Amino acid sequence: MSEIIPLFRPSCTDAEISAVTDVLRSGWWGMGPKTAEFEVAFAARVGARHAVAVNSCTAALQLACEAMGVAGGTVIMPALTFASTALAVMHAGGLPVFADIDPVSLCVDWRDVARKTTVHTRAVIPVWYGGMVTGAATALPVIEDCAHACGSVGAGEQGQVACWSFQAVKNLATGDGGMITTNDGELAAKLRRLRWCGIDRSTWDRDQGRYGWEYDIREPGHKMHMNDLTAALGLAQLERLDEMNEARRLRVRQYLEAFKDTAWMQLPAYWEGSSWHLFCVRVAGRDRFVSHMTSAGVSAGVHYKPLNTYPLFDTSPLPVTDRVWREIVTLPLYPDMTDADLARVVETAKAFRP
Ligand SMILES: Cc1ncc(COP(=O)(O)O)c(C=O)c1O
Repeated sequence: MSEIIPLFRPSCTDAEISAVTDVLRSGWWGMGPKTAEFEVAFAARVGARHAVAVNSCTAALQLACEAMGVAGGTVIMPALTFASTALAVMHAGGLPVFADIDPVSLCVDWRDVARKTTVHTRAVIPVWYGGMVTGAATALPVIEDCAHACGSVGAGEQGQVACWSFQAVKNLATGDGGMITTNDGELAAKLRRLRWCGIDRSTWDRDQGRYGWEYDIREPGHKMHMNDLTAALGLAQLERLDEMNEARRLRVRQYLEAFKDTAWMQLPAYWEGSSWHLFCVRVAGRDRFVSHMTSAGVSAGVHYKPLNTYPLFDTSPLPVTDRVWREIVTLPLYPDMTDADLARVVETAKAFRP
């Protein structure tokens, strides 16, 4: 039996290995110069004035929600997202409200955002599903969930603040990690305090020149900052982001060509600006298709079971989301995917009888 084809796989070269090894040998593993260097490089990459490095996108979203003052109000988001988007709002003292999605982009439908807006609405969190970015059409504060969108054109430019994920299978992967970008200097300063227990000076800052032990604690913050091992890996991955995303785009074009006559499979529209975090197609009889693929050793997944299906959240119906999610299926896609991997996915998928 041949090896199982995974859905995702991080790409590692000697650059990542030596970047982490250098930090291991440096004697400074905590948040320090590499974290600062990664923040500067990432901010430059997405065209933001400030970047604040944290230990996940979940943390980034929670801190952004706290700093934007969502407590006691509602925040509108799509239900077709990972739980973190909604949990971050709840942990920040707000209530998630779900808006429906656009059936093509699978991103939030801004007309439904307008319908769901009330005097209690504090912000909107659009999720750039699979790397697709839409223009944010609202006067409300926008917190972009850019977990899938590292390298997508326009990501991080639509709102007051953007939250990024470097989790193990994301386009820029560090195992776990996240970033918050913003052009607002005051917000960035608050986010820096909130990520590190409310403390106003980092240990590295205090260590420069002479050891300064004193600091002020201004608000009840969290322990959610990045460390230099993660940041070194992030810097190495950032250098390779374009090359890795180009490899994804190549495979997407090949998938689209290979499946163009497969009538029972609905393909996504090709957008050159997408990071293509996910290659998501639509198949009637999706669950049978997933079983068919996995039993042949080819991974296939679903992103996501919508949050309005879980009793923890608001379970009100969302006509497009409720219909579309039953058909969506994610096929394998990762930068180091080989021609043989792709051929096997295509051949296995085409052997499905709908
Ligand atoms: C859309 C979305 N938002 C947020 C997150 C949370 O990211 P992290 O794992 O970095 O906390 C994820 C992770 O998969 C995600 O897919």
